[in-house]
Amino acid sequence: MSELNIEEVAQRLEVEAKGIDSLDALENFRRLYLGRRGIIAQLTSLIPTLSQQERPVFGQKVNSLKNAILEIIKEKELVLSSKGDSSSKQRQPLDVGLPGIAQPLGRLHPITQTINEICSIFIQMGFLVEEGPEVETEFNNFTGLNIPQEHPSRDAFDTFYLAEAGGDAQAKNRGEDRLLLRSHTSAAQVRLMKMRRPPLAVVVPGRVYRPDAVDASHSFMFHQVEGLVVDEGIRFSDLKGSLQVFVQAVFGKKTKMRFRPHFFPFTEPSAEVDISCIICGGKGCSVCGFKGWLEILGSGMVHPNVFRHVGYDPKRYTGFAFGLGIERIAMLKYGINDIRLFFENDLRFLKQF
Ligand code: DAH
Repeated sequence: MSELNIEEVAQRLEVEAKGIDSLDALENFRRLYLGRRGIIAQLTSLIPTLSQQERPVFGQKVNSLKNAILEIIKEKELVLSSKGDSSSKQRQPLDVGLPGIAQPLGRLHPITQTINEICSIFIQMGFLVEEGPEVETEFNNFTGLNIPQEHPSRDAFDTFYLAEAGGDAQAKNRGEDRLLLRSHTSAAQVRLMKMRRPPLAVVVPGRVYRPDAVDASHSFMFHQVEGLVVDEGIRFSDLKGSLQVFVQAVFGKKTKMRFRPHFFPFTEPSAEVDISCIICGGKGCSVCGFKGWLEILGSGMVHPNVFRHVGYDPKRYTGFAFGLGIERIAMLKYGINDIRLFFENDLRFLKQF
């Protein structure tokens, strides 16, 4: 190919560029000139056949031809895409109106949702929400709650003691206040009462730990909410009224409640609270073991010894307390039959709440 041919190509180029009326035609044009076996490639392959003097001149001409082609493509592309040419899918202009790549929205864990729901019910009744540490002293978890030294729940089989912090077997004999993972949120009662003076109306949500073998209804870690009200003249009927409001807010207005006498060292009298079975309405079914009632919490009037341990005058003050398991409430509310589902982080489960 001679120089004349390059001139011819340049002329043809202009004519052809005028005829490009779509992005597809532009693509064909690009291939014709810049493709692997296109005109520019053919011209370039001629360079080695030329004499030493001809080479740089020819090379320069091929180069400026190539630049002219690139320029044409750039211009045409701009014009054609702003016209909304849709003949080529690949070269569509950016459509800022298209929805972006959706980021999946996170949500609160069902246990957190249940805690929030329970707390907001008590907040409406004037309670404050407090927190206590998961690592507690033996005094706050047991002694201050009037739980005797020889009570089985103090056993290392029933409570996680922290070995590094005076948790060895001798520490107890030395009379040290050992550290442990709280086995119930009731520990926060003692901690709070030592820090504050009545009147007191608090709920304390949080994690608790017990060395239980894991199965469908047990976990070594679960959640409780503790409630505590202390003032002059607090009566059992105050406990009953507060729990009534709570039970009906969570499980519905038709839900019945009953107090069953029970024993807890830190309350006197003590009662467990049952609600009419939310599945069968009290007729009896497999969920309630055909009893018609479901146990949901422990409660009672604060034992005078607990007040003595925290320096409150038991002649002046009375109070009530209750403690409930969050997982149990959530399982009843949502019909979940295995506590492990809460902790496996399976999104197929978590997404349902
Ligand atoms: N702490 C008890 C438990 O974990 C529950 C409980 C019962 C808490 C009676 C209370 C109460 O505050 O008064 O089983």
